[in-house]
Amino acid sequence: MNLSNAQPVPNQLLDQPDFAVSASMLSEIDELITHYPKKRSASLMLLHSIQEHFGYISRQAVEWIASKLELQPINVYELVSFYPMFHQKRVGKYHLRVCRTLSCALGGAYELHEHFCSKLGLDAHAHGPQTTKDGKFTVEFVECLASCGTAPVMMCNEAFHEGVSPAKADEIMGRCK
Ligand code: FES
Repeated sequence: MNLSNAQPVPNQLLDQPDFAVSASMLSEIDELITHYPKKRSASLMLLHSIQEHFGYISRQAVEWIASKLELQPINVYELVSFYPMFHQKRVGKYHLRVCRTLSCALGGAYELHEHFCSKLGLDAHAHGPQTTKDGKFTVEFVECLASCGTAPVMMCNEAFHEGVSPAKADEIMGRCK
């Protein structure tokens, strides 16, 4: 891939291991691209596919997708950094996402986040997602999850939880085996 004219991808993605796309995944991706009139329109679907397979989008993945779709890496990185559903780092087996937008902030989101962090030995004041040493949990603040009337709300992987009290938070964690 010729990246000589490419704009750089931000440093936060530099420390991540390479990845290898299997032959079967490659044919799946090639087939996926044929569904779109322009290659670049397949960007989001490719990102979903890569994240589903690898768990996150590494710098190498950004460059690989860009090359595949004849884009600059920065065009793909913009999507990764804009959409909160894409992870730029490996996340734990259980990804706890706590909404911190206004209704949830007023409803106790910060206390809920602190509760998870204190139970899991994480720093509630650190910036960005944090993962436990055993890789079991990642705790992260996210923006509005579109259920402002039932604050505070959160997601544990794909499961949505409303009105999450500390006791309910413990129950949710307890179900994470
Ligand atoms: S503010 Fe939390 S769901 Fe909207």
